[in-house]
Amino acid sequence: MAVLRFPDTDTKIDGEAIGGESRIRAELAALGIDYERWSLDRVVGDASADAVLAAYADEIAEMKRRGGYVTADVIDVTPETPNLEAMLARFDKEHTHSEDEVRFILSGRGIFFLHIDGKVASVEVGPGDMLRLPKGVTHWFTLCAERKIRAIRWFQEISGWAPHYTDSGVDRGYQPLCFGPVYLGVRVGSALGDALKA
Ligand SMILES: [Fe+2]
Repeated sequence: MAVLRFPDTDTKIDGEAIGGESRIRAELAALGIDYERWSLDRVVGDASADAVLAAYADEIAEMKRRGGYVTADVIDVTPETPNLEAMLARFDKEHTHSEDEVRFILSGRGIFFLHIDGKVASVEVGPGDMLRLPKGVTHWFTLCAERKIRAIRWFQEISGWAPHYTDSGVDRGYQPLCFGPVYLGVRVGSALGDALKA
């Protein structure tokens, strides 16, 4: 399940985590972002990319119809992926794309930051989460601490996936911290909480 937060724009302190599938879906829909929960029971963890694409053939075809996507693939990133840091550095600065960014997370966790109408939201995604960012949405992305993610991606252009950087610097003001679905935030009024806010 995803974890949605709206960090305070002035202090950059994470807001309260918004949980629950329907609430997350509604909050993201208001920003023009599609969020859904899909079943994960089609494939075992070590299934090949081809087996994943075959197992989710119906969902892949339906998503192609919804968004005019022409192709889909499976991306696998692990700490052993060559040039991992360089790869992540391409996407952890604020950017847009000239096509939608559509991901169904099979395993691992990552965090999207969305910058829409002057407001920033962080969406930590994990297994079973489908997120669809329309083209032109300003965002950035990185992996959580385990540095692992496996996801199905859809594309409108076969030519490739290019970030268009905004060079706004907004991304530098936000810590890419993943807490996982059970993190409840710093206790209000605690000594630790006050220290962290100082
Ligand atoms: Fe992106």
